[in-house]
Amino acid sequence: MVDIAIEVTDRKGRISQLAGTEGLTLMDALKSQGLPVAATCGGAKSCATCHVYIGEGSPPLDLPDEDEVDLLSESDHYREGVSRLSCQIVLVPTLGGLHVELAPQD
Ligand code: FES
Repeated sequence: MVDIAIEVTDRKGRISQLAGTEGLTLMDALKSQGLPVAATCGGAKSCATCHVYIGEGSPPLDLPDEDEVDLLSESDHYREGVSRLSCQIVLVPTLGGLHVELAPQD
């Protein structure tokens, strides 16, 4: 198991560093750090309360599938090409250096 370094900006602009566990999701990492990510559907891709923005300079991610884009695009805070559901991002070593920002809650 490899710890994956992630930088997070919360909704008040505070920046924190966390070490995500390979194989878990970004949503798991955020919640385990005590960050305010509701994730009410538990990762079932149906709530969008785990919405984050991927920061510039982050390593490339797999593209979101159609269901993820559909759900995110219903949000008032959707940003095309930047918004992601953190529950759909599985942490792998190549994601070290990822920067994310918590999206506002709808
Ligand atoms: S936790 Fe519900 S969509 Fe991610």
